[in-house]
Amino acid sequence: MFVFSRFQIIRSRIDIFYPKTELEQYSEVSIFENLDVENIIQSLQEDGLYLGIQLPQTIVEEILEFTEREQCYANLNPQLMFHVNSKESWQEKYGSLVVSDYVDPERNCRAIEKIIQDPKLLKIAATYLNAKPVFTGSRLWWSFATNANFQERLNFAQELFHYDPTDYRSLKFFFYLTNVGSGNGPHVCVRGSHKNKKISHQLTLFIGRSDRDISQYYQQKDILTICGDVGFGFAEDPFCFHKGTPPQQGDRLMLQIEFCLNNYHF
Ligand SMILES: [Fe+2]
Repeated sequence: MFVFSRFQIIRSRIDIFYPKTELEQYSEVSIFENLDVENIIQSLQEDGLYLGIQLPQTIVEEILEFTEREQCYANLNPQLMFHVNSKESWQEKYGSLVVSDYVDPERNCRAIEKIIQDPKLLKIAATYLNAKPVFTGSRLWWSFATNANFQERLNFAQELFHYDPTDYRSLKFFFYLTNVGSGNGPHVCVRGSHKNKKISHQLTLFIGRSDRDISQYYQQKDILTICGDVGFGFAEDPFCFHKGTPPQQGDRLMLQIEFCLNNYHF
C-alpha cells in the first residue's frame, strides 16, 4: 500500500474492493448544525480541502477542560508524562519540547468521542471515500513555541512539505483548540495537490519536499496557510502536500481525526 497508494489512478479505482455504506444511516442529529455536507464533499473532491468546520462552544470547553485535567507526553515519548502547566520546568530539565500528545483522546474525552461519531462527519467521510469509513485514530497535541532546531522539528512533521500515504484513501478532520495566527504554527496545505502531483513526486520513496520544490510546481494562490480561532476546523485529504509550521510566538493545541478504508494499526 505504501508504494501503490502514491498513484492517483490506483487510488481512484480502489474503492470497488471495499464495502459501500447506506448514507441514510447518517441522518441523526449532528453537533455541527449548519454544516453543508454536499458543499464540503464537492470542495474535497476538487481541492482536497475544506475550510470552516466550526466546533460548538460546549465541545471546545469540554476538550479544554480535559487538557487542563490530564497529563500529556513530550516529543512522542510516553515515558515523559507531564502536566502542560509545568511546561517551563520540564523544558529546563529536558531541553526542547517540540510537541506533546494526550493519551488515547477518543477513549478518554467524551467530547472527542462525540465528534468521531457525528453523523455529518461520518457522512462526509463515507461519501468522500466511497466506502464505509474506518476510524483509525485521533490525536490531540500541543506544538510549542521553542528554540528547537530544524533537525529536531523535522522529526515531528514540521518544516518539510509531505503527504501521508497511510492508506489508499483517507480523510482527516482538524480542529484548532487555541487561536492560531501566523505566529502560532499554522497548518499549511497545497490545495488540489491530492490529484495534481508531479510524476517524480509520485515515484520517489522520499516524500518530503522543500518550500522551493513546492512553489516551483504549484501556484502561490494554492499554497494555503490556515489560520483560525479556537474551534476552527477543516477537512483535508492527507494526499495533499501539507506541513506543520513551527510556532514562533505562542503554543498551538490541535485535534486530528482520521478515517481510512483500512485500519492497519491492528
Ligand atoms: Fe502529515
